[in-house]
Amino acid sequence: MKRLEDIPILENVPVLVRLGLNVPLVDGKPASTFRLRNSLNTIKFLQKKGARIIIIGHIGRDPFATLKPVYEFMRTKIPQVSFSEHLLGSYVRDRVAALMPGEVLVLENLRRNKGEIENDTEFAKELASLADVFVQDAFAVCHRHHASIVGIPEFLPSYAGRTLCAEVDSLKKALEPKRPSIAIIGGAKFATKEPLIEKLLHTYDRIFIGGALGNDLLKERGYPIGRSVTSGNIGSLKMLAKDARIIGPVDLVVSSVKGGGIRLPKEVGEEDMILDAGPATIEMLKEYIDEAKTVLWNGPLGYYENGYTEGTHSLAEVIAEAQTDAIIGGGDTVASIESLELEHKFSFISTGGGAMLEFLTHGTLPGIEAL
Ligand code: 3PG
Repeated sequence: MKRLEDIPILENVPVLVRLGLNVPLVDGKPASTFRLRNSLNTIKFLQKKGARIIIIGHIGRDPFATLKPVYEFMRTKIPQVSFSEHLLGSYVRDRVAALMPGEVLVLENLRRNKGEIENDTEFAKELASLADVFVQDAFAVCHRHHASIVGIPEFLPSYAGRTLCAEVDSLKKALEPKRPSIAIIGGAKFATKEPLIEKLLHTYDRIFIGGALGNDLLKERGYPIGRSVTSGNIGSLKMLAKDARIIGPVDLVVSSVKGGGIRLPKEVGEEDMILDAGPATIEMLKEYIDEAKTVLWNGPLGYYENGYTEGTHSLAEVIAEAQTDAIIGGGDTVASIESLELEHKFSFISTGGGAMLEFLTHGTLPGIEAL
């Protein structure tokens, strides 16, 4: 991939920049700003070089969703930024033509045009025609075959931005862990994580499986899991469950009609529901993490979206305190770290959810190949 430093001329050059701006909104404001703060590095570099900057991105899956709250956040962080409520057409062309060196124009949500997710060639071509250079910095979306990911690079000289380069450099390190190593994979949706778990078994000394995936593992190992949430599709887990390098929770927080509490896996009752990893599990993980030279973590340990965040938060604190290379990603995982204000304690936090998993599984992504 060619990087920002490889762009021959930037002064007064219109540059189209695809950023990862897809953040959750609460009361009309970004609830997590981690991705947005990451994006600023590329913008600041281009501003310093005097480029005329056109930003494109998407937010949410509702085609009527607006990027305006993201723009409102950006204007508190960088100067000379304005917003266009249109994506295409003469209005946008005029706004781009009027940009001065260092000025930034944020265009409305790309997904307002179905050409984006359909990877429509005309849509990609029209966006490309706004600029002389394209910068891809939306690592979190690089697993999608969308117009702004794989389409635009066909029409413009294309470069990787700061976030994308940092992601590739750091995640490559996670693919070659220093031993001893531990990967911690939580969350739900076993199907999306199964190929990664299988791959990590070739390189990691231990893999801990938690969250709803952990419930599947316990079930496969013959433990009762009551009414607990499982990921539903266990694929090769039957085989994985026999591998001693795969470890699961050793105690659990459960809710129960008889009153909840901490249980050993064998003690979970028919009416119980597993909600989180228990303290002995965190203690066990702490021992592995303290001796590890590489820690990879993606996905929460408990029923995070329903407020069972304690196991995940405790794990974030344990990894933050450990003197080890830690590579971390996934929406809930990062939200947990942000809420604890522990970001600065980690060697690398990925802006990607699905993109991180796919990069680790395949070693590349469609958006990277397109560059
Ligand atoms: C992201 O921003 O994390 C990805 O693009 C995921 O969003 P999507 O699943 O709607 O593409």
